[in-house]
Amino acid sequence: MSQHSTRDLEIFLDIATEAAISAGAIVKNYWGKIEHYEEKGRAGDLVTAADKAAEAAILKVLGRHVPDHGILAEESGTLGGDRREYLWAIDPLDGTTNFAHGYPVAAVSVGLMIRGVPTVGVVYNPFRDELFRAAKGLGATLNRCPIAVSQTEKLARSLLVTGFAYDRRETTDNNYAEFCYLTHLTQGVRRSGAAALDLTDVACGRLDGYWERGIHIWDIVAGIVLVEEAGGKVTAYDGSGIVLESGRILATNGTIHSSLSQALRETPKMRANLKKT
Ligand code: IPD
Repeated sequence: MSQHSTRDLEIFLDIATEAAISAGAIVKNYWGKIEHYEEKGRAGDLVTAADKAAEAAILKVLGRHVPDHGILAEESGTLGGDRREYLWAIDPLDGTTNFAHGYPVAAVSVGLMIRGVPTVGVVYNPFRDELFRAAKGLGATLNRCPIAVSQTEKLARSLLVTGFAYDRRETTDNNYAEFCYLTHLTQGVRRSGAAALDLTDVACGRLDGYWERGIHIWDIVAGIVLVEEAGGKVTAYDGSGIVLESGRILATNGTIHSSLSQALRETPKMRANLKKT
């Protein structure tokens, strides 16, 4: 399949949907039953039995429908298939820390990159039974109804969201200064703890923008397709094309994009000025 017809994309979208819903059912089943979790390497980077079982369910669905495709999965790493132009980026349980603490903000994220380009994305939030779906050129939906980004025009009137990577205690580039500065400039900055949901909330207009550093590819591929197909914009912090491996993402409704990008670039200066006073 080298040219992708609408039908091809719909098939991939249905596969992603089947995978996300089956994983979501498993996540929901584990709710309230997690008594033990492991730390994966960095302090705070957790994995539970729910992450592992949900990932196994996704791998089973992909193995049945697209056994020749590659997979990049949060818990299993890089897997499978020789047709590497198709790479599925999956997070079986985005928001593991929330989940492990009994805070019901988490989702399953299943994205497909074709030759490196995020092309299909499904995010399923089993706690709200919200299914977000998008594919390049086919639009974005929430529970099968079309969605669009917000129309907020000014940064000062915007509500944003961000996150803090697990290496935040090991680096001064930890997003703390950006969080303070943007809190000052906007109507607020939220921190949900689930990047996939941050992106879906931008896609459906609940939030106006999202940025984060140190984010993994599996957290964002599906959400990128959703934001773009809902009429938003996704780039690097400076507005240039996003480099997924850089771990930096800026996603907005489009209209506040350049002012948020400028504020992120101004933050280091603000940090320097604060030191002087
Ligand atoms: C994390 C969440 C969080 C973000 C972290 C991610 P996980 O994913 O998306 O919002 O700030 O950078 O790693 O570990 O819960 O799958």
